[in-house]
Amino acid sequence: MKRFDIYRANPNDPADRPKYVSYYIDMNKCGPMFLDALIKIKDEIDPTLSFRRSCREGICGSCAMNIDGRHHLACICPINKENTEKSQISPLMFMFVLKDLVVDMSHFYAQYKSIEPYLKRKTPKTEGQREYYQSEEDRKLLDGLYECVLCACCQSTCPSYWWHPQDYLGPAVLMQAYRWVIDSRDEYTDERLEKLGGDMKLGECYQIGMCSLTCPKGLDPRRALEHLKHLYVEYKHRKEAELTTI
Ligand code: FES
Repeated sequence: MKRFDIYRANPNDPADRPKYVSYYIDMNKCGPMFLDALIKIKDEIDPTLSFRRSCREGICGSCAMNIDGRHHLACICPINKENTEKSQISPLMFMFVLKDLVVDMSHFYAQYKSIEPYLKRKTPKTEGQREYYQSEEDRKLLDGLYECVLCACCQSTCPSYWWHPQDYLGPAVLMQAYRWVIDSRDEYTDERLEKLGGDMKLGECYQIGMCSLTCPKGLDPRRALEHLKHLYVEYKHRKEAELTTI
């Protein structure tokens, strides 16, 4: 039997106090991942337990939570069956809890929407054109960026985001901003960079690197943001040079 201490909270009930509740599971009758344990608890022990999940294979990003002190996607985080010590499961840090392991993602999604995460073009399509091509080299630049599933693990692990969640866009959103800035098919690069200045949107990244340590998909937001900051500085210098010439 393995013990799981799970954070339980219901902010809608004023009498409810947040607490950890212990559940015991026979690991010989449970699947290999933490999400399997949560589903087993909900199905067989306590149907009131709330958590998000959908794909069960690490591509929807909905089962992000803190497991034994680190952020993970529960569906691809294996339970160490040799380790009989208890495991502790909590919601993502520094996010408002709606219930138990379910956090409010609306602010995160609004910030993501603000960077206009889609291809933007100025050149009209030629007749019959259905696709925008790019070279294999340009396409390769997007590797390590497009795989982000927007689980917000990096976002809620970032100390800069803890301090200024209203203004700072955070590593997940900025990495997606970078993904569109360097996409050779996109024709709004300067406008995208311009929007990232001021109000601490990009400037609050101090390259702490917690984002890359925690990413459950093995991506490197810190490096992407480092490059994005360089691109932003280059853009600003270019703009200043243009103004001086005028
Ligand atoms: S359930 Fe989709 S990422 Fe875990």
